Amino acid sequence: MTKTLTKKAEKSSGKNGLHATSIDIPSKSRVVLVDMLNQSLAETFDLYSQVKQAHWNVKGPHFYQLHTLFDDTASEILEYVDELAERATTLGGTARGTARMSADASTLPEYPDDIANGMDHVEALIERFALYTRLTRECIDKATEMGDADTADLYTEISRGVDKRLWFLEAHTQAAR
Ligand SMILES: [Fe+2]
Repeated sequence: MTKTLTKKAEKSSGKNGLHATSIDIPSKSRVVLVDMLNQSLAETFDLYSQVKQAHWNVKGPHFYQLHTLFDDTASEILEYVDELAERATTLGGTARGTARMSADASTLPEYPDDIANGMDHVEALIERFALYTRLTRECIDKATEMGDADTADLYTEISRGVDKRLWFLEAHTQAAR
């Protein structure tokens, strides 16, 4: 961060990096919650871009079905990106949601750029959704521990959605081709 930007950030935020808000969740908890939401924001934006990558590059006899499925999936993930970012700002935090911020912070593996076949894309996405669903479930517990039922509820909504998306992907592997 440049000196000017740091100064600006100090001006608009308190010592803990949060903006002033009347919300009745202690600032100690909000610092932890905002960090968690920004970590999820990074992974969710990364996952969104990876599903789009699959949508654009998939080939093979099931092209159109998978191309469409991946696009529906990406649209749903993009809604979560917005909800996570806005929960972070609701809690007085600063959302860290540019492509570069997300790429820097995400713990998901990069998407392979040497695959084309439909089932290879399905398998690459299963691997990433399996990781993402586990991370999301951990966040439900952490938000509950912090006493923030609303953030836990947001993660529960996301968890239900991505579990279903994992099923949509895994259904391709659960019967003979
Ligand atoms: Fe498209």
